[in-house]
Amino acid sequence: MKITLAVLPGDGIGPEVTAAALEVLRTVAGAAGHTIEAAEHAIGGIAIDTTGEPLPQATLEACLAADAVLLGAVGGPKWSDPNARVRPEQGLLALRAALGVYANLRPLRVHPRLAALSPLKTERLRGVDLVFVRELTGGAYFGRKSREGDSAIDECRYSVAEIERVVRRACELARTRRGRLTSVDKANVLETSRLWRATAERVAAEYPDVALEHQLVDSMAMLLLTRPAGYDVIVTENLFGDILTDEAAALAGSLGVSPSASLGDGRRGLYEPIHGSAPDIAGRGIANPIGAILSAALLLRHSLGLDAEAAAVEAAVDAVLDADELTADLGGTATTAEVTAAVIARLADRRRAAA
Ligand code: NAD
Ligand code: IPM
Ligand code: MN
Repeated sequence: MKITLAVLPGDGIGPEVTAAALEVLRTVAGAAGHTIEAAEHAIGGIAIDTTGEPLPQATLEACLAADAVLLGAVGGPKWSDPNARVRPEQGLLALRAALGVYANLRPLRVHPRLAALSPLKTERLRGVDLVFVRELTGGAYFGRKSREGDSAIDECRYSVAEIERVVRRACELARTRRGRLTSVDKANVLETSRLWRATAERVAAEYPDVALEHQLVDSMAMLLLTRPAGYDVIVTENLFGDILTDEAAALAGSLGVSPSASLGDGRRGLYEPIHGSAPDIAGRGIANPIGAILSAALLLRHSLGLDAEAAAVEAAVDAVLDADELTADLGGTATTAEVTAAVIARLADRRRAAA
């Protein structure tokens, strides 16, 4: 098959980790007899510098025409002036909206080698295997924003249809896993959350094989630390999901190893590590590429239907971690390029073993 990818490296460490992920993608797709046509496009701060816009029209059109979009990260101190006309992050939000990728999957497993790096006690991490389904195109992120005198307003709005489709996606996912769904809201205070809870109840009732429970977001923030192994699929609104998934990522030992897939109704998806542009380490060749490489695995699975290749990439990453080939954020001394080469070498080992 011929695969068309739009590659959006972005800012900071974005280009470093995207190059790593693309190299891995080319290796596995090539070995399976597929060809990848990947073209790079500007987004974020670099796009503001060159075109004045965080999401240039040409980038958007390339993304809409691609089978999948691979993105690094956007943002950085250079573009963070609160009075700036546009911000890099607006480009990412506009892209998510334009692609209609309302369901953001953020899986979390804790590799045994990394458990000691987690702020939690190792025994609490045993058996942690959960996936967040974060609503990605609604809520406070996309509501009307305004200033009135010395006040600021961010409107948070959700429609039944927006809640239904993301909860349905979470139910579908839960039934392929352990059949347990936790819906997170703040229904004791927020009207949007009361609509969320009622809608989640109704949708989940269509899935008798999925057991639904509700959790308030403040309590969920605590439970993630006290009993993270007790969860399977967690569905929540945009802002709660943003916050809880960084908290969850820390449990895995570093923000640098967590991937994400953003999906809509079709096959096309947007794939990005959950970390940002890490300005503090950008340009030094030491960024952890694993979050981006595991995002490429999700791309293989969800947009291309290449499940075996996706699993091979995940196994190769596990083997590299087992062998202690670690970047600085994980306490090692390996560079981005060394970890990437190690993943590719494991993939070749597996192919030889299978041949
Ligand atoms: P960040 O995720 O960029 O960095 C937080 C910390 O984690 C830093 O110390 C960084 O060095 C470290 N880190 C992150 N990824 C790493 C990796 N792959 N390897 C090693 N260490 C890594 O968060 P921040 O500093 O709060 O944000 C910086 C900029 O990134 C901001 O402009 C923010 O808006 C943007 N951001 C973008 C995205 C995205 O594009 N999806 C996501 C989050 C933040
Ligand atoms: C993420 C990021 C983005 C978000 C920012 C950069 C707009 O934090 O992908 O988690 O808040 O969604
Ligand atoms: Mn975030």
